[in-house]
Amino acid sequence: MTDSMTKKVVPSLDIARIRSEFPALASGIAYFDNAGGAQVLKRVADRIYDYLLSTSVQIGASYSSSRQASEKVLAARRSMAELVNAQHDEEIVMGGSTTGLMYLLTQAILPGICEGDEIIVTNSDHESNIGGWLRLQQAGAIIRIWHVDPATMTLPLDQLDRLLNKRTKWVAMTHASNVIGTINPVAEVATRVHAAGARLCVDAVAYAPHRLVDVQASGADVYVFSFYKVYGPHYAVLWGKRDFLLSLPSLNHHFIGPEILPYKLQPGNVNFELSYGCMGIHDYYLTIGKELGASGTNRQCMQVALDHFARHEDMLCEKLLAFLRSKTAVRIIGLAHIENANRMPTVSFVVDGKQSEDVVRFMDQHQIGIRFGDFYARRLIEDLGLQAYGGVIRVSIAHYNTEQEIDRLTDKLELALQA
Ligand SMILES: Cc1ncc(COP(=O)(O)O)c(C=O)c1O
Repeated sequence: MTDSMTKKVVPSLDIARIRSEFPALASGIAYFDNAGGAQVLKRVADRIYDYLLSTSVQIGASYSSSRQASEKVLAARRSMAELVNAQHDEEIVMGGSTTGLMYLLTQAILPGICEGDEIIVTNSDHESNIGGWLRLQQAGAIIRIWHVDPATMTLPLDQLDRLLNKRTKWVAMTHASNVIGTINPVAEVATRVHAAGARLCVDAVAYAPHRLVDVQASGADVYVFSFYKVYGPHYAVLWGKRDFLLSLPSLNHHFIGPEILPYKLQPGNVNFELSYGCMGIHDYYLTIGKELGASGTNRQCMQVALDHFARHEDMLCEKLLAFLRSKTAVRIIGLAHIENANRMPTVSFVVDGKQSEDVVRFMDQHQIGIRFGDFYARRLIEDLGLQAYGGVIRVSIAHYNTEQEIDRLTDKLELALQA
């Protein structure tokens, strides 16, 4: 048998088929601000509509539509648990945003903090995974900062080793930076953090749109992301290891005790229709995986879909990086090459002699959606000395973007650089 006969044929992604799932893509705008907010799946919007028009009642009552509504919300939790590979459905805490969930988490941790406890945060996180931890200083916590090495655009593990000690209680880091795009080795970090007797909280907002989340493989104790970056609505999920969540006090009414997961961390109702809508994300990954020939467990099928998405995104990203590398006035803020899945297709750069805003506004005229600024990773932008440019220009790619859109983007960027 020849090599070509034995090689397994990997079907390529049918981008027209993928785009048909996202009605907004028909607008003609080239959406490259996906790390800001991704386009929404029709099947997500349909579910929200269905919930609101058929079961918009309070859950938990005995009449039929309330029972149906309860089942839908529980099914949504089940689907999120499978999406992230949680061991128990009760480990899924839903909320309005990652920032809000991080705030709730740190408020729940606050009473357990003692004078001199140490918390490590990075200078590359979105403020969402920094600010709440800093508030723990009011209970006597000491904050240590783990800095990105500007030469390698990575968080050096030897620096972490020097920061960790027996007083360390928490390390808060991002799975992937929403500015520089670097993917951090969270499982390796988790091993070191746990060896020091501390816990790890991971912000996966910039990671989850591009890979199949696996909270167990991540090694984290807490893992959080927002669905509006993952083709869903403005809604978020916090996964926490069951034992850890059980150790927290309740933030809810006095009769919802610390043993009641996840309600003790969900004060008030969660948003039922958005919870139900989010099932469409799981459904989409599964459907596409099966269309690509996958079989096996749901997660195995979803994995096939996301592997195809990642290959497509990497191809688009490398095309953009190659263009940027060819321009002497451009400085890529992040890894300039994709190698061994080291970065997300979120590409930031600055242009010598130009304000980032001017480049972005030029692109606006051509129906190309990119953006500039610090993206609330303000400490990183300041530490890298990029305020003088008004922050970075960020192009963030999603799997539904096309090669033609990248060509359109680079053609117009060429003009913007000359302007
Ligand atoms: C990496 C990262 N973390 C956290 C957030 C905040 O998410 P939310 O708007 O859901 O609070 C963002 C939003 O852009 C983000 O990019």
